[in-house]
Amino acid sequence: MYKFNKDYIFRVEYFGGILINRHNFQILELDYNEAVWLTALEYSKGNVTCAKRVTQELGYNPEIEVCKFINKKVLSGIYDKIVQDELEDIVFKTKEKCLTVFKQKDKKLFAPLEITIYPTLNCNLHCRFCFVKNRNKGIKEINVEKWISIVKEAYDMGVLSVSILGGEPTQYKQIDKLLKEIDEIGINTTITSNGVAVKDSTKNILVNSKHIIPIFSLQAFNDKNKILMGVDYKDILVTINQMIKKDKEVRINSVYINQSEKDFYDIIDWCVANGIKRYSIASYVNINQSNQDVNNKSFYDFRILTENIDNYVMSKYKDIDFECSTEGCMIYSAYPELENDILELTEFEKHYYSCRAGKTKIEIYSNGDVYPCICFENEISPTGNICTKKLTEIWHNDIFVNMFKDKPSSVEECSKCGFNIICNSGCLAVRYSKYGLKYNLYKDPRCVLHNLIL
Ligand SMILES: C[S@@+](CC[C@H](N)C(=O)[O-])C[C@H]1O[C@@H](n2cnc3c(N)ncnc32)[C@H](O)[C@@H]1O
Ligand code: SF4
Ligand code: SF4
Ligand code: SF4
Repeated sequence: MYKFNKDYIFRVEYFGGILINRHNFQILELDYNEAVWLTALEYSKGNVTCAKRVTQELGYNPEIEVCKFINKKVLSGIYDKIVQDELEDIVFKTKEKCLTVFKQKDKKLFAPLEITIYPTLNCNLHCRFCFVKNRNKGIKEINVEKWISIVKEAYDMGVLSVSILGGEPTQYKQIDKLLKEIDEIGINTTITSNGVAVKDSTKNILVNSKHIIPIFSLQAFNDKNKILMGVDYKDILVTINQMIKKDKEVRINSVYINQSEKDFYDIIDWCVANGIKRYSIASYVNINQSNQDVNNKSFYDFRILTENIDNYVMSKYKDIDFECSTEGCMIYSAYPELENDILELTEFEKHYYSCRAGKTKIEIYSNGDVYPCICFENEISPTGNICTKKLTEIWHNDIFVNMFKDKPSSVEECSKCGFNIICNSGCLAVRYSKYGLKYNLYKDPRCVLHNLIL
C-alpha cells in the first residue's frame, strides 16, 4: 500500500520545492527535477513508472540521485507495476495536476512556515517590557471553532508550526478545547505563557499532549522578576515544576532587558539541573511606547551577551543535551565581519533569513485580523480578516501581508551593504513607527553595523 511519509512535509515552491522534517525542522531545498518528480509520485500514488514518464514529458530528469534519496525517505510502498491502459490515464491526470501546481510564478513561498495566533489579548500581568499594546482592551475574540478551522487550513497548506501567544493564552475561555484539537490535528505547536493562574485542566492537557510544547516566560531568579513581570519567579516555577515532574518537555524564554549575565547563568544552571533542554533569550522589541523603565540594549550588547553565554554553556555543559539560544531580528547588524559573506543565498534562504513578516510567517490577532508581524499592531489597520477570507487568499493577495514584496529601500548606505539582500534597511515596523511615511528614506535606527570597530 502506498503511503506518503507523514514525518515529512513536501511543498511545491516557485523555485522547485521544499521537503521539511516535521520533527527536527530540517529543510531540504528541491530543484525542479526533484520537485516535479515528487509531485508526480504523490499524485500518481507512488507509481514510479508514471512519475518517470511525467517528469520526462515535462522536460525534467527523474534519474538523479536525490530523487532516489527522496523516494526512500519520504515514500514507502512505492510500486511500479500497472496495466498499460491505466498507466496512460494516470500519466495524463498526473501531468495535468503537475502543470497546475507548478504554474505559480510569484516569488513568494506557497504558504507560511509558521503562524502565530493570539486567541486573547487579555492578560493577568502587566510586564513593563510587553510589546503587545492592546492588552485588556476588550478586543472582540473569535470562537474556538474558527481557530480550529484556521489551524486545520494551515496544516493542509503545509505550514510547519503554530505559536500560540497573547495576551495570556491560557486566559482564553476555550483554551482547553483549542489545545486538544490542535494536538489532534498534529501540527507542531508551542504555547507561550507566564505560567501564573493556569487552570489544572489546561495543565493536564498540555502534559498529555504529543505535539504542543509549553514555553514559560521568566526573567530572573530574584527580585528583578517581580520588577519586570510584577510576579515572583517562584509563582511561575510552581507551574513549571508540576510539568517537569510529569516528564513533560517544557522550555523557558527570557527577554534581555535589565538582567545581568549572572541572572541568565542562574537560569541556565537551573534548566540543566532540572532537565530542561531549551532556553531562549529574546532581544527586546521596543515597539510599545507605553513601556517604562526598560533598559533597551543595543544589538551589540546582545552580541556580547550571546558570546558570553555560549562560552558559559560550552565550558560547563559541553556534553549535555542543552541549548541556550539568543534570538531576535536584525542581530546580524552587530556582526560586521560577516557583512560580505552573505552574498550567495538560495531563493529559499533569502526568505528564511530575512524579516519573516509575510515571507515565512503571519500573525492572527484575537479578532481574526491578519498582520504580517505583530509589530505592526499600531502601524496599520489590517485589510485581511480570517473570518471573511481564507488563509491562502490572505497570504497571497492581502495588501499588508505582502507589503514587503519588491520594495527595495532607497537608503544609500544600505544599497552598498552586504546584508541588504536579507535586511532591506531593517524592520519596516520600527521604521514606520519612527519615520511615518518617510520610512523609506531612513534605515532602521537600531542598526549598529557601520558604527562598530571590533
Ligand atoms: C507577548 S507574550 C504572550 C504570552 C504570555 N503572556 C507570556 O508572557 O509568556 C509572548 C512572549 O513575548 C515576550 N515578550 C514580551 N514583550 C516583549 C518585547 N518587548 N520584546 C521581546 N519579547 C517580548 C514574552 O516574554 C513572552 O515570552
Ligand atoms: S509579556 Fe505576556 S504576561 Fe507579560 S504583560 Fe505581556 S502578555 Fe502579559
Ligand atoms: S540597516 Fe542597512 S546598513 Fe544596517 S544591516 Fe541593514 S542593510 Fe545593512
Ligand atoms: S517586521 Fe520587524 S519585528 Fe517583525 S519579523 Fe520583520 S524585522 Fe522582525
